[in-house]
Amino acid sequence: MRKWILAAAALAVLAAPATVMAQSPIVIKFSHVVANDTPKGKGALKFKELAEKYTNGKVKVEVYPNSTLYKDKEELEALQLGSVQMLAPSTAKFAPLGVKEFEALDLPWLFKDDKQYDQAMKGPVGQWLFKKLEAKGITGLAYWDNGFHMVSANRPLINPADFQGLKIRISGSKIADQYFRNVGSIPQIMAFSEVYQALQTGVVDGCENTPSNYLTQKFHEVQKDITVSYHAHLQYAVIVNTKFWNGLPADIRAELTKAMNEATDYTNSIATKENTDALEEIKKSGKTTLHYLTPEQKAAWQKAMQPTYKWAKGRVGQEVLDLISKELGVQM
Ligand code: LMR
Repeated sequence: MRKWILAAAALAVLAAPATVMAQSPIVIKFSHVVANDTPKGKGALKFKELAEKYTNGKVKVEVYPNSTLYKDKEELEALQLGSVQMLAPSTAKFAPLGVKEFEALDLPWLFKDDKQYDQAMKGPVGQWLFKKLEAKGITGLAYWDNGFHMVSANRPLINPADFQGLKIRISGSKIADQYFRNVGSIPQIMAFSEVYQALQTGVVDGCENTPSNYLTQKFHEVQKDITVSYHAHLQYAVIVNTKFWNGLPADIRAELTKAMNEATDYTNSIATKENTDALEEIKKSGKTTLHYLTPEQKAAWQKAMQPTYKWAKGRVGQEVLDLISKELGVQM
């Protein structure tokens, strides 16, 4: 009898690893390049919280913020290779995937405000853009908002002529490249994680970004003048590796979709306030000077950057421009 018990115990021990394996959670590595304390950072953590809750721990989400796992370009490659499962890059970074159409969203002064942006992306244009990702083995799950770009340098940028000859860091979009060229700057694509040092050492003279990114990356500490121009919008597409996503059990996928929808509502509901608060903190820090454009100055920037619209047709194609025009009720 004793022998039998011992044998049974030994068997149980042998069987244990299999049991543990069967119960080991599905891991989603979610990599991104910004700080936790930003709309995207908070959105990723909210998704983690809800995904783990709704799946009763069957899914574990590991969030890697601040480029700790991969930088901009590498994370897109890692997603396609399956080394990470989920990302939320800015849509300005999608051209290397062979989907330039997303860059239409970077057109200067395209969206009136966050509300209009949000409505537009819920319409056909958002889904049309996601379709473009399918052939790349990527599935689009959601659009996350991060408000509007400011622009900075170590001199006040008030009139278009002030941009002349400045090396400006951009994140990837050729549309941004064009509007900065329109005002005489020399745009330079650079990974987000390298911007602070590049500004500090003078590798570039200036950059554009949203208040939450300026504050959390301390760009405002190495830029004497920031113009609160809100000249272009910054949005993210939350994307997954299609093979991974479609390979999930259907019930798990449904819970993750629910978690993503709620995390999206949460992120988009806090984006405007997060940026307003960040701008307030930048102002309070006293480490930079904020400039605001008069309506006349804004009109001069718009006029100077207007050629980007014509140029964009050759870059992103008429179809996406037509979809956006229809959605926004504007002529392009
Ligand atoms: C940038 O690279 O400037 C931004 O897109 C970073 C981000 O993800 O907000």
